[in-house]
Amino acid sequence: MKPKVLITHKILPEALNYLKKHTDIEIATSGSVLTKKEINEKISNKEGLLSLLVDNIDKEVIDSAPLLKIIANCAAGFNNIDITYARKKGIAVSNTPGVLTDTTADLTWALILAVARKIPQADRFTREKKFKGWTLNLFLGKEITGKRMGIIGMGRIGKAVALRSRGFKMEIVYTDPHRLSPKEEREYNAMFLPLDELLSTSDIVTIHSNLNPKSFHLINEEKIALMKKDSILINASRGPIIDEKILLKALEEKKIWGAGLDVYEREPKIEKKLLSMENVVLLPHIGSATYETRLNMAMKAAKNLIQGLKGEKPDNLIN
Ligand code: DGY
Repeated sequence: MKPKVLITHKILPEALNYLKKHTDIEIATSGSVLTKKEINEKISNKEGLLSLLVDNIDKEVIDSAPLLKIIANCAAGFNNIDITYARKKGIAVSNTPGVLTDTTADLTWALILAVARKIPQADRFTREKKFKGWTLNLFLGKEITGKRMGIIGMGRIGKAVALRSRGFKMEIVYTDPHRLSPKEEREYNAMFLPLDELLSTSDIVTIHSNLNPKSFHLINEEKIALMKKDSILINASRGPIIDEKILLKALEEKKIWGAGLDVYEREPKIEKKLLSMENVVLLPHIGSATYETRLNMAMKAAKNLIQGLKGEKPDNLIN
């Protein structure tokens, strides 16, 4: 008999077919996030769970799943899972790092350019047939080439953003709890700075940290006050790293020049006023959203799931 697994959302057919060969699947197909009640009921007879970052896999869910062996999260981040409690219960937890690095770094750069060159506003203007001819001061943006790029979180994605920044002849500074080796600093042409110094001297500040108790509201009122008035803040990692209300206030009061967000503090809710502001570009958490990458993520999650079900150590075990 194949082991029973729960998949909380539709995944790409290739990954689903692969999983079907090895497991007996129940898949939630409504397209919306399962409620606590639904997930608790569905998980009660399952040995495996393939979850997404929107599923809150807390103590209560874990306690509803006496047979559970593995939670395979289809995301690099895993702040949606109580990994400590899962470990206590002997349940393996895995994620999908590596396969979304370049895709997310590309999206980060798309956001940087969109904010700096006012791309969404210019697109809307053109579609609204407001373009009446070339003028010297139409949609004047901000120069990026040669400026200072400040990267918060120099893991895989931070490094991939750094590599792209070199193409823009930028001076790269970074901060991270783990400083790179001198060899890596040379490779990425990146200089370590403490957070405050990075914030006060960078033209672009881009966040690529994990969400954890230390990074929650890392960017708060005091930190935003350090930033240059003409700087741009980008977040394509996790929303709660920025205090969103404080960011909104800073944008209203023009304490920074602009922001680009792919993630939000109370996702999918967004501070309402941000929606009508011109100095911020807002995306719906699409950092890893290319067909190729989403397939790679799903396949990685599926492989981790099967390894965990067989009692093997999943390739991307977290806990
Ligand atoms: C992740 O994998 O953590 C990303 O946020 C998905 O885009």
